[in-house]
Amino acid sequence: ANESESVDDRLTEVCELLQASIGYYDWVGFYFANHEARTLHLRAFAGEPTDHVVIPFGKGICGQVAESNENFVVADVKAQNNYIACSMYVKAEIVIPLFKDGVNVGQIDIDSHMADPFSPEDERFLEWVNERVSEIL
Ligand code: SME
Repeated sequence: ANESESVDDRLTEVCELLQASIGYYDWVGFYFANHEARTLHLRAFAGEPTDHVVIPFGKGICGQVAESNENFVVADVKAQNNYIACSMYVKAEIVIPLFKDGVNVGQIDIDSHMADPFSPEDERFLEWVNERVSEIL
């Protein structure tokens, strides 16, 4: 259908749809990895702009997922010692790695202003979203 629409535009639409549809998804973004530089780069988002458009592997929740290849669900960001604050309103965060042909190429990152809102259902749903996204990369 929309063959002419760029991947960046489609990623932004996914972010906007998720942020608008799910009340406790206050900020939704996709970071992509530069494996040579060992950095994550913000490619699309919905919500308030963030200063953290480049994140080194290992830093913050996002940087840890770049290295672990595993979901990271944070019920309370204040309890994390390796955390990068983007907004004073954020209480919880979920980061799900995005795999393309078995390689961890990036991640979806969601911040919530609600305390402890994320369940295993969010993990399964966002894993599904990432599988669909990997098909357009
Ligand atoms: N909180 C993230 C940084 C990205 S902002 O949430 C948009 C982290 O600790 O990695």
